[in-house]
Amino acid sequence: MKQKTGSSRRIGLAALLAGWMGMGAHAALAHGETLTCPEAKPSLNLFIFGDSRTPYYPLAKGRILQAAEDEKPDVIVHVGDMVQSSHERYWRWFDREEGRLRRPGVSFLPVFGNHEARTAEPGSPADPFAPYFARFPELRGSAWYEFRCGPLVVLTLNSEESLAQGDPQRRWLEERLQAPPLAPGEVRIVLMHRPLMTARPTYAHRNAGELIPLFTQAVEEGRLSLVFSGHTHNYERLPLGGKGWSVVSGGGGSETHAFAERLKEDRFIGPEPNFHYLRLKLEAGRAVGEMVRFDLDSEQFEVKDRFRVDPP
Ligand SMILES: [Fe+2]
Repeated sequence: MKQKTGSSRRIGLAALLAGWMGMGAHAALAHGETLTCPEAKPSLNLFIFGDSRTPYYPLAKGRILQAAEDEKPDVIVHVGDMVQSSHERYWRWFDREEGRLRRPGVSFLPVFGNHEARTAEPGSPADPFAPYFARFPELRGSAWYEFRCGPLVVLTLNSEESLAQGDPQRRWLEERLQAPPLAPGEVRIVLMHRPLMTARPTYAHRNAGELIPLFTQAVEEGRLSLVFSGHTHNYERLPLGGKGWSVVSGGGGSETHAFAERLKEDRFIGPEPNFHYLRLKLEAGRAVGEMVRFDLDSEQFEVKDRFRVDPP
């Protein structure tokens, strides 16, 4: 693999370093780190799931974690709420459960969620980023980051911080959406824990009203294909910019958020609840996704939704 220059770092083997760092307070947050993968293949398989903290449904979570091993993905994305709170006892739980997914050759992309930010429980660290960066030293203290691997370009946001126009994270996002331009065959996706759109309206990101037109324009101009979120413990697939999708994938095993009524734009038709993970295959500028639902009664997985984004 051609090693990137500048601030780029390889992720995957770096996961082995998790735990080596102490729990002391880190320096001021860095931002916008660019990470790369151990092996940039022309075709990539992603495994995406979220909201697995405090599994109210350990059977569902356990089977989803097993699927993450069985599918042998190149990249695993956790869209946030990996832990109940920043208290070390929850992070040790994460180490025991999700830790087995962090193997050499597999890039694990974390997304900082509202539960990672919680510090109210006695004994919690003053800085919730301390245990987070201890597990993910490859981020080098970057609260939001870019990840590049073959055809995949990921912009991972910290949706606990403002994304309002003029704010640092928003400026970084706009700059990364524009430049460098995507090479032929590359697919750009955004990860943010709090969704752009969801049937639980208080769960959408507080700046969603101005992010939706930003992302819509980026999709229309071929600079963005997909946005993946969690936070709502269900599955939703909403159109973005005519040919992209905003996908909520928060079905990793926490309590369920069944909808009385889905958003009218939601293209998913299916049963509740929706414990699930996503398969995403990237090849030749095309993204093909599947929602794989775990049924609690039959204890079986079944593909319940499919989506794709073709090259611009
Ligand atoms: Fe959340």
